[in-house]
Amino acid sequence: MEALELRDGDSGSFHGKGVSKAVSNVNKVIGPKVKGHDAAGQREIDELMIELDGTPNKERLGANAILSVSMACARAAANERRASLFRQLRASKAYTLPVPMMNVINGGEHAGNELAIQEFLIEPVGADSCADAVRMGAEVYQSLKSVLTSRYGRGAINVGDEGGFAPPLRKTAAALDAIRDAVKGSGYSEGDVRMGIDAASSTFFGKDRKYHIDGVAMGEAELGDYYASLRDEYDLLTLEDPFEEDSFGPFTSITRRLGRNTVIIGDDIYVTNASRIKQGVEEKAGNAVLIKLNQIGTVSETVDAMGLGFKAGWTVVVSHRSGETEDPFIAHLATAFGAPFIKTGAPARGERVAKYNELIRIQESLGSGARFAGRRFA
Ligand code: PGA
Ligand code: ZN
Repeated sequence: MEALELRDGDSGSFHGKGVSKAVSNVNKVIGPKVKGHDAAGQREIDELMIELDGTPNKERLGANAILSVSMACARAAANERRASLFRQLRASKAYTLPVPMMNVINGGEHAGNELAIQEFLIEPVGADSCADAVRMGAEVYQSLKSVLTSRYGRGAINVGDEGGFAPPLRKTAAALDAIRDAVKGSGYSEGDVRMGIDAASSTFFGKDRKYHIDGVAMGEAELGDYYASLRDEYDLLTLEDPFEEDSFGPFTSITRRLGRNTVIIGDDIYVTNASRIKQGVEEKAGNAVLIKLNQIGTVSETVDAMGLGFKAGWTVVVSHRSGETEDPFIAHLATAFGAPFIKTGAPARGERVAKYNELIRIQESLGSGARFAGRRFA
């Protein structure tokens, strides 16, 4: 279960989606308690807020209220030292910038089409640097626009929640074929720009306990075979949430089967929660974890979740949300800890592009000292 995002509910403005209660909790409940504390004491302040809330999922004060203060502390401490946010989050002599995972075709709950798979991603691992990877991704995205227009008409280039195109397709293979052709059309090899999917399979797991995908209903075993065939056909590098969010067993099986050369990422299954990640590591249910600040609700707990992933030798992927703000915090978080991937949407729409621009600025500020995580996957 994700930490609770507190909204005003029925009687409130914005059809109940307003956050005046959360704002009031910041100003009236949290504010007076943290006042006077040193912003550099991130963990102390985070623990104070966790205690003040007192619920396992931060439902009293709201994870949105708590996280906003937690992130503001990190920023205030950085400003005080006149340091970049990533340096404040973790001091290091050498920083490594992540490979962008760009979601260029949207499906599932993020688009008004019939694709079951939520995200089709490109991963420019063969780039020379993070900035170079952003450029390559942007080029492939524009090529994809042409491929989709010529194949399916201009209606196919409307975009979904994360800025990826939302073509009126039903079949997983049709989306992957279009992307593969766009990679080629941009002059890149399949090894330089790899592909991945986030199935977000809880969203197509029915009451009949079958997975409804590509016009058929599949059981666990059949779906596992299907992923294996997609992996081979398209040389998929990453596979996120292949099974619904409580399926530790099937995650373990598919990791045993494909995990040697595929990054099997858990998002909905782990929800950036330490105890779930610990269970996953013990059961070898995946070999990678997705990290979202607002799934858990403080910077310290997010850092702890990342630490568990690193300690297990897992691939740590820092991620945005489909509903995002223009805050580029995650560009700093990924760089600070050397997460090899950042997932932050298509190279389109301000709230996605803000993160890519920030990564480029960070790379520029590091100069020749900036390392890039791409090569290890090329
Ligand atoms: P969400 O999707 O932010 O809508 O949960 C992102 C993801 O599934 O990775
Ligand atoms: Zn996901």
